[in-house]
Amino acid sequence: MDSSASSRSHSFHESFLMLSLALIILTISLIAQLMMRIRIWCSCEICQTFIQSRWTVRFTNLCDWYTHLLKESPTKTVHIHILNNIITANPDNVEYMLKTKFDHFPKGKPFSAILGDFLGRGIFNVDGDLWRFQRKMASLELAHVSLRAYSFEVVNQEIDRRLLPLMKSLAKGREVVDLQDVFRRFSFDCICRFSFGLDPMCLELSLPLSEFAVAFDLASKLSAERAMTASPLIWKTKRLLNIGSERKLRQAIKIINELAQEVIRKRRKFGFSDQKDLLSRFMTSISDETYLRDIIVNFLLAGRDTVASALTSFFWVVAHHPEVEAAILEEANKVIGINSNLTNYNCYEQMRELHYLHAAIHESMRMYPPVQFDSKFCSENDVLPDGSLVKKGTRVTYHPYAMGRIEEIWGSDCSEFKPERWLRDGVFCQKNPFEYPVFQAGLRVCLGKEMALLEIKSVAISLLREYRVELVRYSPVPLFSPGLTATYRDGLRVLVSHRSMNYD
Ligand code: HEM
Repeated sequence: MDSSASSRSHSFHESFLMLSLALIILTISLIAQLMMRIRIWCSCEICQTFIQSRWTVRFTNLCDWYTHLLKESPTKTVHIHILNNIITANPDNVEYMLKTKFDHFPKGKPFSAILGDFLGRGIFNVDGDLWRFQRKMASLELAHVSLRAYSFEVVNQEIDRRLLPLMKSLAKGREVVDLQDVFRRFSFDCICRFSFGLDPMCLELSLPLSEFAVAFDLASKLSAERAMTASPLIWKTKRLLNIGSERKLRQAIKIINELAQEVIRKRRKFGFSDQKDLLSRFMTSISDETYLRDIIVNFLLAGRDTVASALTSFFWVVAHHPEVEAAILEEANKVIGINSNLTNYNCYEQMRELHYLHAAIHESMRMYPPVQFDSKFCSENDVLPDGSLVKKGTRVTYHPYAMGRIEEIWGSDCSEFKPERWLRDGVFCQKNPFEYPVFQAGLRVCLGKEMALLEIKSVAISLLREYRVELVRYSPVPLFSPGLTATYRDGLRVLVSHRSMNYD
């Protein structure tokens, strides 16, 4: 080879190398850009801690780590880039998203896709006009005194006929029971009777769980698990192929639909004007069976796990604070009377006078809210009051669990359980709902709040007055399972024993 040919070959190799290098750099930067855009990677400390699960070294629950981050943040807001999720414990931001710019922060498509098969077009799962229509209709129904009285009747029947007899037999046998499981069964019986006029008899422990209750449990669990898959493509493909968890979900939903259809058809055949439940009320203005099914299934979901979770935490926290238990009993003896029970309508009024109990329940939910966090998907580029930029499509989450632990909101004693913080001269005083969004706040505030509080109060007072509830194992903090509603991973195992007559 002559020298000019060799130098040509050399420069060709050089150019080839340069070109290859340029291509490699271009590809890497394109991948990096893509990764930044779709957020599969981020090197910031928070994201790395999340990816590597390093938070588990210091914290028991993910919500405790988020609380730590939010407390440290000067704006009380953090951005988890890889999840494209802004999380806030700032009451101004919460008010902005739930009220001021409500239309910019809908539940959004990702949420409705995940729960769509189970919840259909029910109130929980829709935005815009579909939501507005149901909200208006449901608010009107729930405001009826007769419906409130019906819910009180349902709850007190369940307490008298099932919960107290169950406690009696457990006390007699000195048997350990999982109170969380008892409350889940209890609240499902109540919400089914209230919404559907149907009694699944879950608290009859001698009977196997009804097919409906099992299917409902499974459908809620598997729908929530969709949210935990790395990409929606995974569950969507499984659904298309009808395999694995998606096959089970489809079967569970089929059972729920068949039962709902049967109840609706029977109600139509035998008449519903004299029935007191919610379904019968809706049937006077809606005829579409699927729509009726969706509305009712949404109420079942809304009113079941939340109430059970609130009750579980209440008994957990009261067991750790005997002085609070004593104050609750003292108040009940004064207001209701030592020998009265709660089944008569007078008690509905007396329950309103139990200010200390009301405060203790609010305080328990401040520290252990049943819905620990709640997300919306921003529909327009926006800026939150604390200056955080929110791009269209970003998930924005407000975090009631963290908010209950923020000193700027609750003061330097925020980590203490103190029902007194809700009382002024012995009278219960509401807090700003955007500082305490346990029932959400603003335009989509929980529709079952009053009913839920009455249910929790009735159970709390009925159980505490007759039985001592002793935890089998005391722990400084509860351990929660991941999911939409706060659930104690190991349940709440207790021993119950009968109190002496003077409720000491
Ligand atoms: C302690 C018990 C409860 C808590 C903590 C609670 C909390 C909440 C929260 C945080 C939301 C907002 C959810 C979201 O938009 O993503 C909500 C909505 C709702 N809740 Fe409750 N809830 C409770 C009990 C109940 C009960 C017993 C019922 C039924 C009677 C009920 C009916 C509803 C309904 C229908 C909505 C949807 C409102 C709307 O989207 O306009 N809730 N609740």
